[in-house]
Amino acid sequence: GLKKKEVHVLCLGLDNSGKTTIINKLKPANAQTQDIVPTIGFSIEKFKTSSLSFTVFDMSGQGRYRNLWEHYYKEGQAVIFVIDSSDKLRMVVAKEELETLLNHADIKHRRIPILFFANKMDLRDSLSSVKVSQLLCLENIKDKPWHICASDGLKGEGLQEGVDWLQDQIQ
Ligand code: GTP
Ligand code: MG
Repeated sequence: GLKKKEVHVLCLGLDNSGKTTIINKLKPANAQTQDIVPTIGFSIEKFKTSSLSFTVFDMSGQGRYRNLWEHYYKEGQAVIFVIDSSDKLRMVVAKEELETLLNHADIKHRRIPILFFANKMDLRDSLSSVKVSQLLCLENIKDKPWHICASDGLKGEGLQEGVDWLQDQIQ
């Protein structure tokens, strides 16, 4: 068959937001792992869509590793930014990390698409994607295409919508 176009994606967001869980769920069933542990440093993962072959830099969100993120910004052609919608206390930390990302020299002037997952929508006290979008002030992002989806990384709900959007942005 035709060789799929390769795209480098950065998967960013605070620790425990569900990045690795989401990326794992995007892989074919036989390639998924059952036991997901907090990422140390980062991990390179791959998954495919109908027309694209994604290489994902699944970064650790732990504070002590967040300084690694910027070393991969140049390579990234898209960002998946994951938020734990039930973690109201750290929403402001997620906002700060997003702002740092958006203001970085290697990101600032590039029109790279950003897909947000308002993850853990299954939890009773989780915020809606609209609320998460408001708290992160996403409407202020004027120079990059962005999209937010509510998701459940464990069941895989909402992931396809997000990845379809991302694929449309890249072609
Ligand atoms: P770091 O690698 O430390 O940055 O964390 P991470 O963002 O990769 O989070 P990870 O995928 O390791 O998930 C953290 C925890 O959240 C795990 O216990 C997951 O099972 C759980 N989790 C992930 N997504 C969801 C979700 O949509 N709903 C619920 N209820 N739990 C989730
Ligand atoms: Mg992880």
